[in-house]
Amino acid sequence: MSLLEQIKDKKEFRKLSEDLISRVLVKVSEKYDVTDKKDQKKIVKETRARLRDLYSAFRMRNFSKKEKYLEEMKDWEDKEICKKILQVHLSTRERAEYYDDVYMKIRKYVDFKSVLDLGCGLNVFSMPWMGRVDYYGIDVNQEDVDFCNSYLEKFGLRGAIRWGDVLSFDNHLKSEVCFMFKVLEGFESLERGFTEKLFEKISSPYIVASFATRSLGGGKSISEKRLKWFEKIVEGKVLEKFKLADEVYFIVKR
Ligand SMILES: C[S@@+](CC[C@H](N)C(=O)[O-])C[C@H]1O[C@@H](n2cnc3c(N)ncnc32)[C@H](O)[C@@H]1O
Repeated sequence: MSLLEQIKDKKEFRKLSEDLISRVLVKVSEKYDVTDKKDQKKIVKETRARLRDLYSAFRMRNFSKKEKYLEEMKDWEDKEICKKILQVHLSTRERAEYYDDVYMKIRKYVDFKSVLDLGCGLNVFSMPWMGRVDYYGIDVNQEDVDFCNSYLEKFGLRGAIRWGDVLSFDNHLKSEVCFMFKVLEGFESLERGFTEKLFEKISSPYIVASFATRSLGGGKSISEKRLKWFEKIVEGKVLEKFKLADEVYFIVKR
């Protein structure tokens, strides 16, 4: 069995894009001798751990309840049920009480009717606060992608979530605003310098990027000083930088 097949041999990784698995695998392998049996074991173990950090560490214990919540939903704008769904994913859970503020801030600069959301997770369920827009997302986690698409389809909302590895796309759909919520550091860990390249590929006039100011699940606070690399990329283009809960946002006009 190849190393890729060994990694995919665990159920939790079967629905993950092979592009992403290979990318992480190559990165991890750099440190080891891929012909050595012991090293191969370490590679498989470490790759799985990195993949968990990147995509599956966000699931709350009640993650499987989301299907039931969606079934109960009668109206796309049902904030009560959408909030329950947002709360099964750590990223959106941490933001659930602040969505009104987040979108109000963004709408001060751009009254958007279309969104491209990279590494979107379950963020489409913030549509009741975001407003009815054409929503396009990309995520590497097929289960989340299917689930988000079933919300769009159930209520005839315009847009679609695409399954895939953002690092493998050359072209992105043009939208009025592009969200990069808590994803850029993960991308950078796979390919240093990727954010700059990504900005070239995005044709949306506005980008909103965010970063955690606390480690996953409300743990230790993490210094914003680490974001100097990003501030340099967007220097002179930031319309507003603001903090809400454990997240710092940058509204960027290109
Ligand atoms: C920290 S969560 C953020 C989710 C969402 N943006 C939010 O803030 O609510 C990171 C998300 O990015 C996705 N992801 C990680 N690496 C990715 C990649 N290379 N391509 C596409 N999606 C990716 C994960 O599956 C996960 O849903």
